[in-house]
Formats: sequence, structure tokens, C-alpha cells
Amino acid sequence: MAATAEALDIYSHLDDAACEARILAAREALGERVVILGHHYQREEVFRHADFSGDSLKLSRQAASSSAEYIVFCGVHFMAEVADILSRPDQVSILPDMAAGCSMADMADLARVERAWRELAEVLEPDEQVTPVTYINSAADLKAFCGRHGGIVCTSTNARHVLEWAYGRRDKVLFFPDQHLGRNTAHAMGMPLEEMVVWDYDLPMGGLSAEQIRKARIILWKGFCSVHQMFRPEHIDAFKARYPEAKVVSHPEASFEVCQKSDYVGSTEFIIRTVRDSAPGTRWLVGTELNLVNRLHQQYKHEGKNVHFMSPTVCMCSTMFRIDPQHLCWTLENLVEGRVVNRIQVPAEEAAQARLALERMLEVSP
Ligand code: 13P
Ligand code: SF4
Repeated sequence: MAATAEALDIYSHLDDAACEARILAAREALGERVVILGHHYQREEVFRHADFSGDSLKLSRQAASSSAEYIVFCGVHFMAEVADILSRPDQVSILPDMAAGCSMADMADLARVERAWRELAEVLEPDEQVTPVTYINSAADLKAFCGRHGGIVCTSTNARHVLEWAYGRRDKVLFFPDQHLGRNTAHAMGMPLEEMVVWDYDLPMGGLSAEQIRKARIILWKGFCSVHQMFRPEHIDAFKARYPEAKVVSHPEASFEVCQKSDYVGSTEFIIRTVRDSAPGTRWLVGTELNLVNRLHQQYKHEGKNVHFMSPTVCMCSTMFRIDPQHLCWTLENLVEGRVVNRIQVPAEEAAQARLALERMLEVSP
């Protein structure tokens, strides 16, 4: 029997407790044939089932080194694509809910990036002067574009190493889709803001003059994360006024102004380490997704640490939240029955080119 949407609908009526027991039973039945990877932004009821948790770099490495037949990715679409690209051809990458995308990744697409490359060619020789760098939060065809054009992938953990690699080869970088990660990283490397321009993908020539393009060292795609853009410098000011001794740590997808006011900036893995290694009693304001911040608070409150969320409004990553116990249960029980649902499979040629860009990244990563 094919696994149908109707069958999934039956799972949506299960409560979390019923799912919990059935997930555990399915895992038991599958044994080492399955590995569950969980990103730090996953909700607790899903996160607790992960064999390995991590940021996008760590989870890419896990996917590349896992021997399991099935890799069930509790994260978002681009992560399951990377798992498919980096794993062996006989392994199967699965995303429990196909609607778990990333709104930032959707802000860049191949047609627009190819158009940008053509338009840049009116002013420069892009294949000699510009390295395309895509944040891992992007579709596989954009990673393949980077593979074809001497480019590379980065994550928030290795962005600096990747930019150093890129500038060792060519003068300029086209960085997509997240302008903030590009700006924050280049600035931390010592690049002045005047050497950065923003490419507005809705405008001809990105809305830039030939002169601006020739002068720029980094061309930042006008993309952003809707979760991290909620954090504002005023939130930090208000918090510091109340708790002057508190420390602030933010993800580099937050704006330049927020990162400048933060004591530390880094990936989710970095944020976890920073809070974990701080002295007992430390108070933290954290600018990243709510599920991770809540988990940190729960984990370290026994050491007297107080971990606060940066925004006064509740903002979760709604696409990460699509992965719920019901979808995980449906996915695993289908595997027990010998049916693969929601397989993520990148076409072979695209995967080979994307792998090139991902392998360059893995080589330069710390
Ligand atoms: P990390 O690589 O830091 O986990 O970030 C992934 C992400 O999507 C942050 O929004
Ligand atoms: Fe994408 Fe932002 Fe969600 Fe990360 S938090 S997966 S960048 S939408």
C-alpha cells in the first residue's frame, strides 16, 4: 500500500504522548538502519529523538559520515538536500514534512543568480574576478552554480574561513542569500562598510551603478532571515539598562547593528558553547531562535544562569516547527513497513556540482 496523504491525516489526530511511544517503538524496530539528525531549532518533542544534534555544519558532517540506510532529517529542506548530496548513493535522506523550507533560502533562486552573473559580466569578468559564495541555507541548484563557477558554500560557523579562501583566489565575492551573514563576517575581517554593496534582485543590475560594482569587494544579496530580523538594537539597550552585567550573544543572521552591540557573535553551536562555558550565575541575552534559547535556559538554570530571548515578541522559525512528532512518527512507521516517504533526492548532475562546492567548504572549515 502506498503511503498516502490520507494516511498522514490519521497521524495528525494522534496526541504527542501517543506519538512518543510509537516513535520509540519504530526506532527500536529499525535499529541502526536509521539515524535521526536534529537541528538545534527543533521543538523539544522532536529534538529528544535525535541521535545527533548540531548546527548545519556539524549535521552535514554527520550525514557524510553516517552509515545508516535512512537519514531522517529533523531540520529544513536544504539540510536534507545536503545530507543526500554528501551521503552514499544507496543511503536515503528523508524530510518528515516537505513544507519545512527556509524563507531565507527562497529569497535566492537559480534564475535570479544567473541573471546577476550575466549582468555583472557587463561590468567585470565574473569568472575571473568574483567568487560566488552561497550560504548553506540555499537550494541545491545554487550550490551547484557555485561548484560550476569556482565558488563555495559556507555556514555561519565557517563563513570567515570561506571568505578568506575566496579572497585568496579572486578580488570580489558575490554572497547569497543572506546579506547579514556576509556583512557581519566581512566586517569582522576588517572590511569597511563602504566596500560592500547590496544587490537588489528585483532591480536591473541589482540597482547598482557600474562604478559601485567595480569598487565593491563584496556584493551582498538582499536576503534575510525573518526570525533573526526581529531582533533590534533597542532590545539590547533595554536589557543592558536593566542588567548592566549581562552578556549578549547573537547569531550572525541578525542585523549589523545588533551584532555590533553584542558581546559575542556566532553560529548556534558557538552560542551553545559560549553559554555552557560561562561562569555560574551569568545572565545572557540571546539573539537566535526561541526553541534553542528556551532549551539553553532549562539546561543551565541549575547553575544559576539566566538565559533570555532577545525579542519581546515570540518568534520561532515556523518552518523548523513544521517537523512535529506526528510527521516523525508517520515517517518512521512507514520505514518499518518498508515504505520510504518524503525522500529528498537531488538530481545526479546537480548533486555532483553541488558536492564540489560543499567539499571545498569542508576542506577549509575549522
Ligand atoms: P546554524 O548553522 O548556526 O545552525 O544556523 C542555521 C540556521 O538556519 C540559522 O537560522
Ligand atoms: Fe531559515 Fe531563518 Fe528558519 Fe534559519 S531560522 S531555517 S534562516 S527561516
